[in-house]
Amino acid sequence: MNESQQTTPGQKTPEQITRGGLRYEGKAKRVYATADAGQYIVEYKDDATAFNGVKRAQIEGKGAINNAITSALYPQLEAAGIPTHFIRQLSEREQLVCAVQIIPVEVIVRNVAAGSFSKRLGIEEGTPLSRPVIEYCYKSDALGDPLINTDTALSLGWATEAQLLRVRELALKVRHFLTPFFEARGVRLIDFKLEFGTLADETVVLADEISPDTCRFWDTATGEKLDKDRFRRDLGGVEDAYAEMLRRITS
Ligand code: TMP
Repeated sequence: MNESQQTTPGQKTPEQITRGGLRYEGKAKRVYATADAGQYIVEYKDDATAFNGVKRAQIEGKGAINNAITSALYPQLEAAGIPTHFIRQLSEREQLVCAVQIIPVEVIVRNVAAGSFSKRLGIEEGTPLSRPVIEYCYKSDALGDPLINTDTALSLGWATEAQLLRVRELALKVRHFLTPFFEARGVRLIDFKLEFGTLADETVVLADEISPDTCRFWDTATGEKLDKDRFRRDLGGVEDAYAEMLRRITS
């Protein structure tokens, strides 16, 4: 049990929290209801997919590592003034979170050209961007999370103008915290993907994981990739890269 798993007086222990029905299953996580309508349990799986599920594998220990990384980062993001769904880590693979309705707009923040941005625009991977680039995708496995713009999200009712403004503001705030955080740990934060949700009172909060599955991390000194691109691109050493990122984040 690590620090963020400890139960404080008055809190229910993990055993006292009843896991209800499955609310959602994604490619890397399951979300369960609890006896408290305002709280969900998120369970991290070892399953890895790429290219919208075309490539599949188990990455041993990934669920536990991504849970540990997310559980280490979220309290620090909260402390930096970013509201999140996170309550606490419950176990190796589980977190207790506030129940949210996920806004079906994925937000990609880019510091450096890579991945689909490089491919789409013919910009060499590793080219620094003179200002952060925010991109939006429609969260739809069936469609492969297509790139959209804010007009699309507004026109189709996926989010309101106020929500999109808040999402952008929070995404930039997350970048402002994470970029130097990783720099101090010898890691260049190339890009990352965020998801947001709304609480019952409509507050927009950061949700989902922040992990090597959802970020690009390059070692500052060597340029070595320490993220899911090792799996996507068959570079080997996937488990080691994830474990190395956990070590750097928590040490
Ligand atoms: P991309 O360059 O492939 O569009 O990816 C940008 C960032 O988003 C990268 O850090 C990986 C992350 N990402 C996800 O978290 N989920 C996804 O389904 C995809 C395609 C990318």
